[in-house]
Amino acid sequence: AYPNLAPKPPMGWNNWSYYMCDINEKVILGNARALVKSGLAAKGYDTVTVDDCWMSKQRDARGNLVPDPARFPRGMAYVGRELHRMGLKFGIYEDVGNLTCEKYPGSFGHYQQDADLFAKWKVDYLKMDGCNLSTAPGKTKERTYHDAYRAVSRALRNTGRDIVFSVSAPAYFQYDGDQVWHQVIRWSSQVGNLWREGRDIAVEKHSGAKKWSSIKYNYAYNAKLAPFQRPGRWNDPDFLLAGDSGLSTRQMQSQMSLWAVMAAPLISSTDLTKISPAALKVLGNRDIIAVDQDPKGVQGRVVQQGTGYDVLSKPLQGGDHAVALFNSGDSAQTLTTTAKAAGLPQARAYELRDLNTGRTTRTAGKISVRVPAHATVLYRVHPRR
Ligand code: GLA
Repeated sequence: AYPNLAPKPPMGWNNWSYYMCDINEKVILGNARALVKSGLAAKGYDTVTVDDCWMSKQRDARGNLVPDPARFPRGMAYVGRELHRMGLKFGIYEDVGNLTCEKYPGSFGHYQQDADLFAKWKVDYLKMDGCNLSTAPGKTKERTYHDAYRAVSRALRNTGRDIVFSVSAPAYFQYDGDQVWHQVIRWSSQVGNLWREGRDIAVEKHSGAKKWSSIKYNYAYNAKLAPFQRPGRWNDPDFLLAGDSGLSTRQMQSQMSLWAVMAAPLISSTDLTKISPAALKVLGNRDIIAVDQDPKGVQGRVVQQGTGYDVLSKPLQGGDHAVALFNSGDSAQTLTTTAKAAGLPQARAYELRDLNTGRTTRTAGKISVRVPAHATVLYRVHPRR
């Protein structure tokens, strides 16, 4: 298997859902500075990834990728140096196919050459997309992707540099039936550290309603993939949208709480240079980050489900559990579960700390709370012996 370079779910920032192709050195480094200044970097958001559209449309005479001279006049090694100077890690985007999703040169036929270039630029994290990979003659689509991602994985290892590998393959099989989809997720967890498995989260130009439904959609399929997660190998339901327009504070809190209980990568994608205090507070909630980054490294599972609600539980190091009560419906409801149903051991009493408000209550076992529409109550449940 690929080396375990991400013992905890990766955290950071990526430009895509907010800026899409509208990027340049100023946008990337400006957000990187904001990541540090806001305190988010110190809380773990340490990897800045430049997504699609950073390249020129042609490779150079030697076949090397060329940064777009208008967007990145000082090149990508410079961007990496600046990020490292800020104490951050440098992530970059490429694609296993002939072209990226936005039709820039893909890595196909250049896997080792590109991996070597990234290593030379001191890249720490590679997001390898799966657009425009044609099925090879005599192979299935699944075989073609497997061979391609395995080759990239090997090429990265050959560089000798530790590069966290984000695999996008499963996202290209979500409509091919669960059997092949699951198969692709299985090998993705061998060749890389994390993998995208479903749809793209809505981007900034979409409405708030569309963003909320995309958060719910990505949550729902990611929750089902818990059996594929292992410590150091993470399902990736895509970006955190806190800060983007049209989302309520409750919706942002819900996404953050759900992603944390699922041990998902926490990758913000918004304009951090003008993020609201409310959104910053959501992203920077230390207790919720601690649930996500818990050293036990286990994705929480759905323990109870009904119309318009889900209850998830994630075992934490030391015996606590994080329990999320998610009201996905459009009106308030009282959600009820028990410590036992959430998988906690028998105890005299349980302390429930609401990680969004910081309030602690006690219970003999019943966990019941009024949850506003679109909200998630996230408790850290501590058994008292
Ligand atoms: C795909 C990915 C997105 C983004 C774009 C860039 O859609 O899923 O996250 O990287 O490509 O073109």
